[in-house]
Amino acid sequence: MINAIDEPKKALAGAASRLASGGLVAIPTETVYGLAADATNGKAVANIFEAKGRPQFNPLICHVSGLEMAEKYGQFSPLVRQLARKFWPGPLTVVVPLQDDCCIHPLVSAGLDTIALRAPRGIMADIAGRLARPVAAPSANISGRISPTLATHVAEELGDNIDLIVDGGPCKIGLESTIIKIDSDDVVLLRAGGTSAEVLENFIQRPLVRPAGKSAIQAPGMMASHYAPRSLLRLNATSLDGGEALLAFGDQPIANAEKAIAVLNLSPSGNPAEAAQNLFAYLKQLDAAAAKTIAVQPIPADGLGEAINDRLRRAAAPRHND
Ligand code: TXA
Ligand code: MG
Repeated sequence: MINAIDEPKKALAGAASRLASGGLVAIPTETVYGLAADATNGKAVANIFEAKGRPQFNPLICHVSGLEMAEKYGQFSPLVRQLARKFWPGPLTVVVPLQDDCCIHPLVSAGLDTIALRAPRGIMADIAGRLARPVAAPSANISGRISPTLATHVAEELGDNIDLIVDGGPCKIGLESTIIKIDSDDVVLLRAGGTSAEVLENFIQRPLVRPAGKSAIQAPGMMASHYAPRSLLRLNATSLDGGEALLAFGDQPIANAEKAIAVLNLSPSGNPAEAAQNLFAYLKQLDAAAAKTIAVQPIPADGLGEAINDRLRRAAAPRHND
């Protein structure tokens, strides 16, 4: 069942009560739609993994109403608290040590002694507030596939397995949150996302540490192949081959453009925020054109471009199981 949020109070109460009784609810955030369950209810959390077909070693992000709730479940150092005060609500997730005697179900953290917390913008935070507990939610897609930025994406992939979809329209950012972890004095970037590295680095006044090759252990969800469309992806394309679909960016023409069987432009004006917002929906649309390959024009790596290129590389990587 899809519920529009034209009556926000009703949508909020409905979602919170489904979660309280152990249900699965798809909830929009400013980044992507999440597949949500009460983070203290092991059976409900297990149903998330089941519905997504997600490997159980991959931990989930917990969504909170704000810093006050977050500190009940995670241990915040002064630096993490400052980051949360500055960037919450918003697309930033912090990985911190779990509080002792914390009632978060161990499946949420996949048995790790840390927890990933974020206070999103919008109805998800309000729902966590109403539930009075964190809401565990990965992106509401089948594991390894493209993250949903529209309620209809969720309905198509997971509709049969969830109790309710809250429809908040298109996600404003369109890319998942940035994930960071503090390691002694270092702020480690586990996943590039909706809060750009530059903005974080300006705030902390030093470079983020980017774990080369180690991220697979630190953020188990960061598998090389992820966000995979059915078509293959060819990145940084400067000319088109016959039968390809084209994911364009900016106003630079591409050689042999007339050969494309379908074309979408992430941002004709070359704006990374607009490209981020369109990325997942356009990948899905081009995938539906059933080309063997989607050629992608180069996208500059600065600002949100880092996260966009990260998602494109994962979408282009060799597939593990499908
Ligand atoms: O924007 C987002 O972050 C979206 C919306 C729904 O909030 N959520 C999302 O969740 O992208 P998901 O499950 O698709 O990605 C969560 C990432 C995974 O890579 C996971 O490995 C990592 O967070 N993660 C979760 N808990 C962790 C922990 N304790 N330590 C390290 N990484 C963790
Ligand atoms: Mg995901």
